[in-house]
Amino acid sequence: MSWEIICKTGDVQDDFPYSAKVDGKEVGIYRVDGEYYALEDVCPHAYALLSQGFVEDGQVECPLHEAVFDIKTGKCLREPADRDLHVYPVRVVDDTVQLQLNSEG
Ligand code: FES
Repeated sequence: MSWEIICKTGDVQDDFPYSAKVDGKEVGIYRVDGEYYALEDVCPHAYALLSQGFVEDGQVECPLHEAVFDIKTGKCLREPADRDLHVYPVRVVDDTVQLQLNSEG
């Protein structure tokens, strides 16, 4: 399992997640309560990037049809999306945010 540097910690704001494309995968990097989280970024419902959605209280709302997901767990909290998001392992080393992308089963 290898860790990949995705961005700087300063690139991620509580209100403005960071959109990354790594190895062909779109990933959204979020910060909630000072911790970093990485979620699959393409909404399971149709094509929208969740990192461009509305973030509040540890949840992100899809910008297209307003499905809601829990940022810490990826859990789908509101339709029309019908499944949870994949969550990637994250670690912070110095001022970099690193992900393990090959953890997808
Ligand atoms: S594309 Fe996200 S809810 Fe429809």
